[in-house]
Amino acid sequence: MSRIPDELIEQVRDAADLVGIIGESVELKRTGTDYRGPCPFHGGTHRNFAVVPRKGMYYCYVCHAAGDVFTYLMKRYGMDYPTAVRQVAARVGITIPEQTERAGPDPREPLFAAVAAAQDWFHRQLRESPTAEPARNYLLGREIPLETAGELGLGWAPGGALFLDEMKKLGLAPAVLREAGLTAEREDGRVVPRFRNRITIPIHDLRGRVVAFGGRLIGPGEPKYLNSPESPVFHKGSQLYNLHAAKQAIRRDERALLVEGYFDTLRLVLAGIEGVVAPLGTSLTGEQAQLLTRFTRHVVICYDSDAPGQKAAFRAADECLRAGLRVSVASIPEGKDPDDLVRAQGAAGMQQVVDDALDVLELKLTLLERRGMLSGIEERRAALDRLLPTVRATKDPIQREIYLSTIAERTGVGKEVLAAELERERTLRQAAPPPAAPPEARVQPSAGPSRAASRASGDERSLLFALLASPDWVARARADGVTPDWFDRAEHREIFAALLGSGPGRVLPDGLSHEGELAWSELKESVASFDPERMGDTYEAAREALEARPHFRELDKLMRAIERAPAGAKDDLIKERDRRRAQLSKKYPAAWKRWYARRRGAGSQGRRATE
Ligand code: UTP
Ligand code: MN
Repeated sequence: MSRIPDELIEQVRDAADLVGIIGESVELKRTGTDYRGPCPFHGGTHRNFAVVPRKGMYYCYVCHAAGDVFTYLMKRYGMDYPTAVRQVAARVGITIPEQTERAGPDPREPLFAAVAAAQDWFHRQLRESPTAEPARNYLLGREIPLETAGELGLGWAPGGALFLDEMKKLGLAPAVLREAGLTAEREDGRVVPRFRNRITIPIHDLRGRVVAFGGRLIGPGEPKYLNSPESPVFHKGSQLYNLHAAKQAIRRDERALLVEGYFDTLRLVLAGIEGVVAPLGTSLTGEQAQLLTRFTRHVVICYDSDAPGQKAAFRAADECLRAGLRVSVASIPEGKDPDDLVRAQGAAGMQQVVDDALDVLELKLTLLERRGMLSGIEERRAALDRLLPTVRATKDPIQREIYLSTIAERTGVGKEVLAAELERERTLRQAAPPPAAPPEARVQPSAGPSRAASRASGDERSLLFALLASPDWVARARADGVTPDWFDRAEHREIFAALLGSGPGRVLPDGLSHEGELAWSELKESVASFDPERMGDTYEAAREALEARPHFRELDKLMRAIERAPAGAKDDLIKERDRRRAQLSKKYPAAWKRWYARRRGAGSQGRRATE
């Protein structure tokens, strides 16, 4: 683990004088904010080679060589990566601790190499391959000319198995391709390219290395976007799309723009709005919000204007507040996302919307006021229920204080009363078990789920995995009498209902909500990691757990009733409890074990809030 730390490399890259370094051997001329010169890589004579200091990148419009200061030195002078970093570090006066010198190679190096090779290949396909014609037309239709697509690193993953042959020719081992998420294994053991008939959108880590792809389907089908799965180099819940390119602008502008999608990001970047990032196919996670705090204290959320987009925006806002960020929410005009807006009104239209963004609490107040919810008695009660979670999520103490005063002023409820209410909720929460966020359950409501809740959500997911794996399991679920109300999570209910209706789970069902679609594509992405051989066990265990769940909830209720009951009434209840315990432990042994373990854990923590 004694490699050069990522943070340090990033510092070196940020500090590097790219124009100076390249300018030593290439005659660069300033054009606007960029520099142009003859390309040293293909030996061009015209000024087709661009150096973009504000992005820390170079790009050749002819041979498409592209990269940062390190790749420049590597490609130009055959240095290896650590040497390139050290060279630049020495020039900018950053000391890299000596002991890292003897560092072994990063064990993930083969994965980076595989993803980089795939990126090069996809990228070339988009420019050259006849099979990419529909993709090129699609991009043109979205007002992304081929040259621009090249700059953005977009690529084309054709159908069929050509990709496998090409990667093999490059000497990439099947196991490495698999681990990098570039191939997937079918149920019958056949290995296929993961991305087929999709436009590929490279996802970079903070150092600017391609680590994963988003894949946009251009024909009908589903999911609309397929992303690389988790891998040792790609963690979709803790990385952000485009942050590697946006971070300098974010620092400079003291503000990050957060959008929902890849194309929103790309469009804004093309329009010259640089400090833009997006989550990677899931709701914004706490880790992602935390990551932003390394670059700024303020985030402006610009999500789609439809209802699901707005809901997701407030959810992301809470996550950012919890990380200590200040949050504004931009209101995109009806029926649009940032991509549409920029296409219709240009960068200026977007800039206006960003400038008009309201602080998240202010926006909530405005919306509530518009609906008359800050006047009547009952309305004000309901309004407070929507406002207080925002305050509760706010980590920054001063911001909290300001929020409380504002709410007090606008609702006429005393600040001490509001504070007391928050405090009461907090103590209730603290008694509850700590939130756990298992990696496989990322699309989650922002309220910190209890461990039991995420476990339960895991059961729901497991059952859906089985149903997605084969129509046999859908039929089986039907026969077993599984119904949508077995699922707690709204998006799981939706997906299950759709699967029951349509049978085989191959295509994205119509009419799913935004959350439903996201959950669907997440499930589809993860289903490959389930062993088809053991799908029977997966199904059975999950079915039992979900079937048992309401019974154990009843039992929990009964136990609470016992605690509250007057002494005289306890005995009957206790008898009933014992009867049910005996019954449930026999009928649902696995669920029983879990319940029992949880109960004991609860006992040792003392009293706690339930549900
Ligand atoms: P949108 O459907 O709003 O994306 O989903 P978009 O960028 O507007 O899509 P098009 O290409 O313009 O139609 C927002 C984001 O949600 C994730 C992707 O990250 C997408 O950019 N998503 C969406 C998925 O991961 N899978 C899906 O099937 C759909
Ligand atoms: Mn969108």
